[in-house]
Amino acid sequence: MTSTAPPTPPRYSRITGTGSYLPPRRLTNDALAAQLAQDGIETSDQWIVERTGIKARHFADAGVACSDLAVQAARHALEAADVDAASIDLIILATSTPDMVFPSTACIVQQKLGIHGGAAFDVQAVCSGFVYALTIADSMIRTGVATKALVIGSEVFSRILDFKDRGTCVLFGDGAGAVVLEASDTPGILSSELHADGRHVGILCVPGHVSGGQVLGDPLLKMDGPAVFKIAVNVLYDVARSVLDKAGRSEAQVDWLIPHQANIRILQSTAKRLKLPFDKLIVTVDQHGNTSAASIPLALDVSVRSGKIARGDTVLLEGVGGGFTWGAVLLDL
Ligand code: UT7
Repeated sequence: MTSTAPPTPPRYSRITGTGSYLPPRRLTNDALAAQLAQDGIETSDQWIVERTGIKARHFADAGVACSDLAVQAARHALEAADVDAASIDLIILATSTPDMVFPSTACIVQQKLGIHGGAAFDVQAVCSGFVYALTIADSMIRTGVATKALVIGSEVFSRILDFKDRGTCVLFGDGAGAVVLEASDTPGILSSELHADGRHVGILCVPGHVSGGQVLGDPLLKMDGPAVFKIAVNVLYDVARSVLDKAGRSEAQVDWLIPHQANIRILQSTAKRLKLPFDKLIVTVDQHGNTSAASIPLALDVSVRSGKIARGDTVLLEGVGGGFTWGAVLLDL
């Protein structure tokens, strides 16, 4: 007599709570322009708004670390999901501005949340970091390696900005966003895709590194803005189409598009190419600036809390950034 094991039901992952945190110090374009003018750097609210859509950003005070922002966002997400921190068995934190060279900021967050034992690690994919982290967490949950994950994007980009370079320092801000991702018998995450092209390492980078007790090379952000712009617009369209095809969904079935919040012109051109009306496009870049890996979960949380995005909605997340890296996740909330 032979016996067969009962079929295992498919296992999916689903977002059960979102959270975010912005450091309280908010700088409008005028305030930043006045600050830069003291060093002879000329810019204006008009230039920044016309070229980027950014009106204000938040900067963390000295002594506030990436993990501090991440912990606040994580606590809000845990509360929203009604999940006890002790039951989290995976923390993936996306950042390019970690607290230390090592250990990972995820381990520091784990300690600050008062938990231990589960896996914790950082993902470094710059502004695509959250999409990378969410895709990895989804795979780990679906394969049974983890059950309840905290996926966080947290950045203190103000620490790596060159305030003598008006072409970059007006673009970025600090902040954190987080989601709780749990195993589920119905799919939340429908499809995802990740890409990189290392041929473009030099167009967006912080080239410095620590060696022999010193920083060697320039430790501040360098960017060829127009080159990044061109690549971003193309890859965001292609990857969006690809995750929709994989999930067997059409553009018309997308309720909300949340691209990485870098520049309003990139966001609008992505929505336009996907033939999505602008009122389906989530925009927070005006108030947050570009918060790199934090921008997507921050925008998601702000939209959930304002009641714009509701449970059951289909949301398309898209990241793009240094590396060059890009990716997308299609999900039902
Ligand atoms: O997370 C991904 C990261 N980055 C991005 O997504 C950025 C993608 N790129 C962009 O968003 C745009 O390229 C920028 C917003 C960075 C720049 O806009 P642009 O339309 O490409 O301007 P540009 O770099 O070609 O510069 C145009 C002019 C230059 O002056 P001249 O040479 O025409 O006289 C710049 O010196 O604007 C000048 N400029 C500024 N003027 C006032 C550059 N930055 C500033 C500034 N204020 N802050």
